[in-house]
Amino acid sequence: MNKDSIKHKSSLDFTIPERTNCVLLNKDCLELLKSIPDESVQLILIDPPYNLDLAEWDTFNNYISWASKWIEESYRVLSKSGSMVIFGGTQFQGEKSGDLIEIIHYLRHHTKFRLVNTVVWYYKNGMSAHRYFANRHEEAIWLTKTDKYYFDLDSVRIPYGEKELQEALRDKRLIPENVMKGKNPTNVWEIGRLNGNSLERVGHPTQKPLEIIRRFVKALSYPDSIVLDFFAGSGTTGRVCIEEKRNCIMCDTDKQSDMFFAKHIENMKKTEMNQPFIENDSLRSFFNGIKNRGTKEYIHQLQLNFEVPALTIPTSSYQRVANSAL
Ligand SMILES: C[S@@+](CC[C@H](N)C(=O)[O-])C[C@H]1O[C@@H](n2cnc3c(N)ncnc32)[C@H](O)[C@@H]1O
Repeated sequence: MNKDSIKHKSSLDFTIPERTNCVLLNKDCLELLKSIPDESVQLILIDPPYNLDLAEWDTFNNYISWASKWIEESYRVLSKSGSMVIFGGTQFQGEKSGDLIEIIHYLRHHTKFRLVNTVVWYYKNGMSAHRYFANRHEEAIWLTKTDKYYFDLDSVRIPYGEKELQEALRDKRLIPENVMKGKNPTNVWEIGRLNGNSLERVGHPTQKPLEIIRRFVKALSYPDSIVLDFFAGSGTTGRVCIEEKRNCIMCDTDKQSDMFFAKHIENMKKTEMNQPFIENDSLRSFFNGIKNRGTKEYIHQLQLNFEVPALTIPTSSYQRVANSAL
């Protein structure tokens, strides 16, 4: 195994920073994306809106032409070993709305992205239905730029039960060393949706469970790398990144995101996953914070010699200062 290649590294090969950096800006995704340097992001993880009502004369084509702009920028900012994850469903809701199938069609015919997996998120708890089969799944597509993508399967393996483990160890097709590490989670993930009284809830209507975000963050990014979520919502991705020692850039056009994220942090502090972090108020201070820390792996990966425009949080928004859990 070539340990010099990022492709074959695992989280254990990286220096764990004492604190990571994160920034949440009240911005439109395209404005933020344009200020991010080329190939600087390891993982883009987004849960986009699909039922945009852009204008009265709007047609579905406007959805894809809008999406194509952030897809193109995502390709530019993603590192060569990086991954992009897009959540979505396969049901379209109206003539103006988009869905994941349309995005896949666009990616396939108009971009150089490679599709690695479609993950089916299966949940047992959902809305009841009487006029159709009650929906119990959502999808997420995993895309990469090259075939040299970073993937740390070991960090997300699922331990075998005692009986299953004995059977797996007897199975000649399986490598005992890997069996001892646990099972590949496969591309069907059973993770419960957040119900109304879930302790994770911070009030955002489409908040994703921490567990599903955590699996992607751990497998597709490494400690101290940069994760980007430009449809941040409540900032679930940011919370997971802090807990898992990744740096995170987020934005959302909704001013309430700040409040939801503050609640996430409050919740995190009550758990054993709590980690110290620095919350930056601009993209420039975010990148400078990482650059000044200058871990060997990061400099190697990024050649940090770019100038980042100073995108700042508007003064009207809820301001937080550098936050320490220590
Ligand atoms: C499906 S939600 C994301 C929820 C998030 N995954 C969570 O766990 O909380 C999509 C978010 O995209 C935001 N949004 C919509 N259009 C946007 C744009 N042009 N730029 C940035 N954010 C946008 C919405 O305000 C919404 O909060």
